[in-house]
Amino acid sequence: MNIMNTRLSSEDRERIRQSLQQKYSKVAESPEGKFRYPVGRSGLEGQKYDLEILKALPEEVLSAYCGVGNPFLLGPVHEGESVLDIGCGAGVDTLVAALMVGPQGRVAGVDVIPEMLRRARENLARTTIENVEFQEASAENLPYPGESFDVVISNGALNLVTDKMSALSEAFRVLKPGGRFMMADQVLVSDAPVDTRSMVESWAR
Ligand SMILES: C[S@@+](CC[C@H](N)C(=O)[O-])C[C@H]1O[C@@H](n2cnc3c(N)ncnc32)[C@H](O)[C@@H]1O
Repeated sequence: MNIMNTRLSSEDRERIRQSLQQKYSKVAESPEGKFRYPVGRSGLEGQKYDLEILKALPEEVLSAYCGVGNPFLLGPVHEGESVLDIGCGAGVDTLVAALMVGPQGRVAGVDVIPEMLRRARENLARTTIENVEFQEASAENLPYPGESFDVVISNGALNLVTDKMSALSEAFRVLKPGGRFMMADQVLVSDAPVDTRSMVESWAR
C-alpha cells in the first residue's frame, strides 16, 4: 500500500478529521503523556534547539511543544525573512522562527484544529513578539498567494495530512524562487498498514 497515493473515501477523510479533532483538542491543553516521544522542553532540548532562543520564550510556551524533530537544523533562517509554519500546533516553532527573523521579518502559522490555534495565540500573547499571525487553514489549501515566503517549515504535521501531494505542492507554490522548505516528520519503518481501514484507524494514534 502506497500511503502517499492511497485514495481515501470522503467517509475515511471524515473519520480521520474527527480523530484528529479528538486527539488535538486534548493536546492543546498539554501534550504531556499523549505521544510516544518526548514533548515540551525535554523534546526541544533533545532535538538540539538553540538554547539561547529557548531562554527567550516562557516555560508555558515551551511546554506546549509536540514536534518530532528540529526543522531549524536543516539551515539558517535569516533576519528580515518571511516564514510559514504548516501545522503550527501551539506555535512553538512559529515563535522560534519569529525570534530568528527579528522585527523586520514576519511569520505565519496555520493549523486545522481551533483549540491548537487558541493555544498558539495565548502563547504569542505571553511574549512581546509582534510580527506573527495564526490562521485556521489546511496544508492542502494554503490561504496565501504564490511566492509569499522565504522559508516554509513544518514539524510533525505532514504525516497527518490526508492529501500529501497537494500539501507538498502548496508548500512549494507559496515559496519564493530560491526559498527553502525545511520539514521534520515521522517515517514508517515497519510494514505499511495492510488495508485502508486499519490505516484510517491508526491515523492519529
Ligand atoms: C504533532 S503536532 C505538531 C505541532 C507543532 N508543529 C509542534 O511542533 O509543536 C501536528 C499538528 O499538525 C496539525 N495538522 C494536522 N493535519 C493538518 C492539516 N491538514 N493542515 C494543517 N495542520 C494540520 C495538527 O492539528 C497538529 O497541531
